[in-house]
Amino acid sequence: MPPVSPGLRWTALCVIACAAMGGAIAVFAQPSSTAPLTDIKGLYDASCASCHGVDGRGSGPASVALAPAPRDFTRGIYKFRSTASGSLPADEDLYRAIARGLPGTSMLAWKGILTDAQIRGLAAYVKQFSPRFATETPTQLTASQPIPPTPESLDKGKAAYESLACGACHGDAGTGEGAITSSLQDDWGHQIHAATLTEPWTFRGGGTATDIYRRLRTGINGTPMPAFADTAKDQDLWHVANYIASLGRKPVWKMDAAQVKALYEQRDQAAAANPVARGRVLSETLGCAHCHSPVDAQDRVLPGMKFAGGLKMRLVVWGDFVTANLTSDNETGLGRASDDDLTRAITHGIKRDGSRMLPFPMGWPGYAHLTPADLNAVIAFLRTIPPVKNQIPPPARPAFFAYLSAKFQMLIGGTDFPIVVFAGNAGSAGADAPGAARPAQQ
Ligand code: HEC
Ligand code: HEC
Ligand code: HEC
Repeated sequence: MPPVSPGLRWTALCVIACAAMGGAIAVFAQPSSTAPLTDIKGLYDASCASCHGVDGRGSGPASVALAPAPRDFTRGIYKFRSTASGSLPADEDLYRAIARGLPGTSMLAWKGILTDAQIRGLAAYVKQFSPRFATETPTQLTASQPIPPTPESLDKGKAAYESLACGACHGDAGTGEGAITSSLQDDWGHQIHAATLTEPWTFRGGGTATDIYRRLRTGINGTPMPAFADTAKDQDLWHVANYIASLGRKPVWKMDAAQVKALYEQRDQAAAANPVARGRVLSETLGCAHCHSPVDAQDRVLPGMKFAGGLKMRLVVWGDFVTANLTSDNETGLGRASDDDLTRAITHGIKRDGSRMLPFPMGWPGYAHLTPADLNAVIAFLRTIPPVKNQIPPPARPAFFAYLSAKFQMLIGGTDFPIVVFAGNAGSAGADAPGAARPAQQ
């Protein structure tokens, strides 16, 4: 038996999801069904489906607010493997991802919450979402002996970092600054950004030189991060891995107050020097792009509609909410909004028409903690989005009687109401968009 009850687990999850969002999405705290723990499907549906979906497509009710997006298991593409580029993962890789979690994302470590047998059961369960596992076998890569991180190795690593052009995506100093390519997409159509190499605690595959060496050899399937097993000398990969491990700065939680202050001052300067680039990254990682772009029934952003709003969300009890058009259109978007208007909306939940937003679905209380430089960067970036005409309807609150009856069932009957995200555009630009008015996920 797990040490925590399903109810507590959900509360913990909510806290983590909210922290990942930097906000208050209290609606995630739905009570889960109390499935018998021997039943792996029941366990999956209760513990994993809120993000990965009952059908494994990665579009569970919580997924809409998460960046990176939860894995879609149906294509059999896995990022963190010990196997060759393009290959399926080994069972051990799936076990590791579930047990240790993926640091820096909403995918938490389940070891301690679930038993080893349950984790292995789930690793087998997620495989059946993809037909690939029936016909292909994983190609294991073997690792050579580690090379110690001597000053000489670090020098060679720095040279290899340059010759292998890692900086094209990660920036010359590994911080992303000066990268040639900053608008990267994964195979599922989500915007992603190359890891910040000075923050090894965010490496999802682990931050030691051995972890990094493995990542460089296998690449990260489904993302632009290439595999170097065939294109670089094995020794050089150890040198680069040593070099990257040496770039790690002290994490904030180990710094004293003066060091923290210096770090943020330096960050603010970087943000001030290139606010639009910083704002673009923030608008992806804070989920603005996720919620403010309408999607089709396959969860892909409708062509040309990124940031144009119109994604409809139904929060039972509270009503239907349609996300705002964040493009610079004068009539239907943010074109005529002042910086103050935007600051009020993003950090205080006050819309331009003076009405107040609930703290969900948009977790504006979390955005209240953005530093002024980051907030300005987000606003500066929003200003650069070309105008798209898409008039957004106001929220539709349910009639009082329906509200009372739903609330009653929820509180007293313990009925579990999902958040429903609708496919299609609920704005004026395309009510007949593909899949319109069909629930994308419930
Ligand atoms: C709060 C949301 C959330 C929940 C709940 C969750 N996951 Fe995940 N999971 C994610 C995200 C996000 C990713 C992808 C992170 C990335 O792309 O780096 C992921 C990735 C994965 C991966 C892929 C690892 C790889 O190498 O590509 C597996 C396997 C996985 N999850 C299994 C599970 C299982 C099993 C459960 C239930 C015990 C679960 N997840 C619950 C969010 C979640
Ligand atoms: C074409 C662009 C590109 C190039 C070139 C590239 N990377 Fe990456 N790298 C990425 C992206 C994108 C990610 C994040 C993938 C994700 O979000 O899952 C990443 C992630 C990483 C990570 C984090 C791994 C983890 O466990 O989370 C490391 C370390 C890394 N890269 C190192 C390197 C090094 C060293 C090189 C050169 C030898 C390199 N990268 C070349 C795009 C690139
Ligand atoms: C979880 C989904 C979600 C996320 C994440 C999200 N929003 Fe929103 N946002 C909404 C919804 C829904 C509304 C409309 C709420 C209403 O009408 O009551 C909204 C409204 C707004 C408005 C108000 C526009 C007006 O009418 O004045 C602005 C501005 C805005 N969002 C900007 C952002 C920015 C910037 C981010 C990222 C920092 C962001 N949002 C992240 C869902 C989201």
